[in-house]
Amino acid sequence: MQVALKVWRYDSSTGDRALREYEIDAPEEATLLDCLDIIKDRQDGSLAYRKSCRMMICGSCGMRMDGAAVLACKTRMYDIAQEGRIPVISAMGNMPIVKDLVVDMDPFWSKFKAMKPYLQPGYDRPEDGREYRISQERMNVVHKEALCINCGACVSECNAMESDPEFLGPQALAKGMRFVGDPRDAATVERLEQYSGPHGIWECTRCFFCNERCPKGVDPRDAIAKLGAEAVHHGIDRDMGAKHAKWFIRSTETTGWLRETELVPKTQGIVSSVKQMKFAMGLIKHNKAGLAFPPHVARDVGEARNLRKLTQQQDRQGALGHVQGERALSRLAHGHTGDESLEQIYERQGAFTRPYLPGEGSAGGQGSLTQADVTPGEQPTKKPGGGA
Ligand code: SF4
Ligand code: SF4
Ligand code: FES
Repeated sequence: MQVALKVWRYDSSTGDRALREYEIDAPEEATLLDCLDIIKDRQDGSLAYRKSCRMMICGSCGMRMDGAAVLACKTRMYDIAQEGRIPVISAMGNMPIVKDLVVDMDPFWSKFKAMKPYLQPGYDRPEDGREYRISQERMNVVHKEALCINCGACVSECNAMESDPEFLGPQALAKGMRFVGDPRDAATVERLEQYSGPHGIWECTRCFFCNERCPKGVDPRDAIAKLGAEAVHHGIDRDMGAKHAKWFIRSTETTGWLRETELVPKTQGIVSSVKQMKFAMGLIKHNKAGLAFPPHVARDVGEARNLRKLTQQQDRQGALGHVQGERALSRLAHGHTGDESLEQIYERQGAFTRPYLPGEGSAGGQGSLTQADVTPGEQPTKKPGGGA
């Protein structure tokens, strides 16, 4: 097939920048990386890019195609060639370009190292002297985070990093969750303290671009949300972001709506709120301050309260509650009243099956821990309850 590419060439030593077009004959199964190899072999040996495994595992070949980060060895060119489209290939964003498609990964690795990406063990050794074994459910909490291949695609697209290059970023934070969620690690609180500081968890703008572009399904934004939930669960809530999140929970529990008027004092404190009086007066003037008293209460506020009750009853605090919350929200049967018990809700026709409680296992396949399975489409390698 005929493939045409436009590649942004750049030389950091001279500052020269140019968009070059190449046209090659490539096999139908060719990936973007194969096409770059053909260009380098046959047309222009000076083209610079990184590669190693050619099978989506080493994370070397991150770059942008038409402005969005991709792994070159994962990107098939057949459809693009059939459409007659000429994609523009450029270096990843948020990292300085060294040459053509090669970026300087030093800042990326510095943040990675700052997360202390290794186990700091703190578990009791089993009395029988054998290895410490963890249940499948427990490891499923960090399964997605453990899939990261450090390619940098998420960092390339991160909005928060564009405004603050010091932001730890999606890859580093996902790595942090990998260890915060590991039951063998003893440094949970120290880690959460560190990750909750300036340039940490709460600086994420929740744009979700990292989830969208990650080629391995790590979903770094979800990892950051889990870290936030873990931090609040451990009482590490000094940051305004944590206070903000806590007020969301309180709001939804009490009224089912976000009580925005109280959001500023609850998040920023009274002194800071007083300083914003001028702004508040402007909102009142334009009838945007939401001063209704008593505050409006959603008709189905019982659903929000029941969801909260559910996570508490099941002892799904922190990251567990976050994942459970998503699952429950997506499956909760609507229309019940706050008077119904949770058992009654589960027994209703068409209601989702009751998630397992800690210690009950997950034979019915319910509960997020089991559903975040090891290998999509396959059974967990260990039966529930089979671990330590
Ligand atoms: S969701 Fe947060 S971490 Fe992910 S890309 Fe957006 S700002 Fe960055
Ligand atoms: S989280 Fe995904 S996009 Fe980010 S470095 Fe890891 S594998 Fe790459
Ligand atoms: S070359 Fe290893 S991930 Fe693409």
